[in-house]
Amino acid sequence: MRQILVAGNWKMNLLQSQGVALSQALAAKYPSSAAVEILICPAFPYLSPIGTAVRGSAVQLGAQNLYFAPQGAFTGEVSGDMLKDVGCGWVLVGHSERRQFFGEQDELLAKKVSAGLAHGLKVIYCVGEQLADRKAGQTEAVLAKQLAGLDQVSAEQMANVVVAYEPMWAIGTGVTATTEQAQQAHVFLRGQLKSRYGEAVAAATRILYGGSVKPDNALELLSQSDVDGALVGGAALKADSFTAIIEAGIQAQTLKG
Ligand code: 13P
Repeated sequence: MRQILVAGNWKMNLLQSQGVALSQALAAKYPSSAAVEILICPAFPYLSPIGTAVRGSAVQLGAQNLYFAPQGAFTGEVSGDMLKDVGCGWVLVGHSERRQFFGEQDELLAKKVSAGLAHGLKVIYCVGEQLADRKAGQTEAVLAKQLAGLDQVSAEQMANVVVAYEPMWAIGTGVTATTEQAQQAHVFLRGQLKSRYGEAVAAATRILYGGSVKPDNALELLSQSDVDGALVGGAALKADSFTAIIEAGIQAQTLKG
């Protein structure tokens, strides 16, 4: 049974006071354990104060990126060690905005995934096709290729990896993949995990959906049998909308038994 994970990717939003207030509100709502896993990924400068705000609650802390080298002359970069040091348990790797605006490719991403795992972080590895890929019938080919970012990950390490399917045409656009499109992509990804790692790992690995997840579509998406959580952008920036999505996750978890 896969536990639903509701993750908020705050991207480059919220100043310290806003982020701390939001994380305090979430920690107050989910003070101990919750039926689903809850994660927030603030910007680097605020990881430490926000980590303090959620400490002891059910809300976990993650970063949006890392660099693969352990330390050294890499101006502007942040290592896995540093993320652990400020209390992160998770890191996002390969978000489409990193691929699109910062030119990150699968070979680099594979190193980042390995570095995250080596530093004891859980990794959310993101994949997703562009609209042109989908129109050209290339969705599955693109997703299969992007999974090269997991090439250095062993079957045992997959226990600390979550895959996120985020179709680029659905990110920040208000256009959500239909439940059928999401379920279909997730089934495809799980099939790919099966050929890479075998049945048991494929069945145990969580695959999140991301792209315009909102309170009003979360339950339907999260109720799909292969949708094991949500990676939420815009709707994660306010306590009421993010909480509504977490509650939809709790409901979906109950429905799935
Ligand atoms: P939106 O929920 O704003 O579409 O963003 C999705 C996303 O990119 C999360 O990582």
